[in-house]
Amino acid sequence: MFHAQILTLFPEFFDSPLSCSIPKRAIAAGIVKVDTIQIRDFATDKHNKVDDSPYGGGPGMLMKPGPVVAAIRKARQIDPATHVVMLTPSGTRFSQAKALEFTEKPGITLLCGRYEGFDERICDYVDEEISLGDYVLSGGEPAAMCLLDAVIRLLPEVLGSPESAALDSFSEEGILDWPHYTRPEEFEGKRVPGVLLSGNHAKIEKWRDDQAALRSRKRSSESDDE
Ligand code: ADE
Repeated sequence: MFHAQILTLFPEFFDSPLSCSIPKRAIAAGIVKVDTIQIRDFATDKHNKVDDSPYGGGPGMLMKPGPVVAAIRKARQIDPATHVVMLTPSGTRFSQAKALEFTEKPGITLLCGRYEGFDERICDYVDEEISLGDYVLSGGEPAAMCLLDAVIRLLPEVLGSPESAALDSFSEEGILDWPHYTRPEEFEGKRVPGVLLSGNHAKIEKWRDDQAALRSRKRSSESDDE
């Protein structure tokens, strides 16, 4: 069983997403186990303080090292082989390849921060720093949930059809999925491409490959423009 531990000040954030759709089924089937650890439980002062103002001045509050490192140690004590990932906009960009790499770990621990970020010394206690992209979320929780969702659906036995994950966009580096259509054949004047109705599987396969290549080229030229 794949064991995910989430270190957070907001364990309730994960309740709904984990009780829907694929994550819900994977948990019910015993393929994945998700536990949250409340970082505030490791605060040592009488106000349960987990954040403080930055040395040198400036706006916002930082996660204090003491409670966060104690929470990481708890996760490592529960699962000594766990791979600890800090969610931060300054981390390495998450990708489908990373998601696949994480499925090969015995388990992962996702460290979510709030406020303006973490005291820098916390980085020495994690295995990896991951960013979801070049934008700032109000906390690591939505990033951790996206990462976990991407990992869960790649675990063996989670998806109904073993081909589904293999055919995903990005399963081959940089190659996007082709366009898909379902009933009706015509919607508000827009018709399903005729080749898909032809029954000619060789032609369909070629059309799909061509479309995927076209989309991928278009997308990569868009990002070159940025
Ligand atoms: N925390 C805040 N913003 C984030 C991002 N873009 N990725 C990961 N963690 C974050």
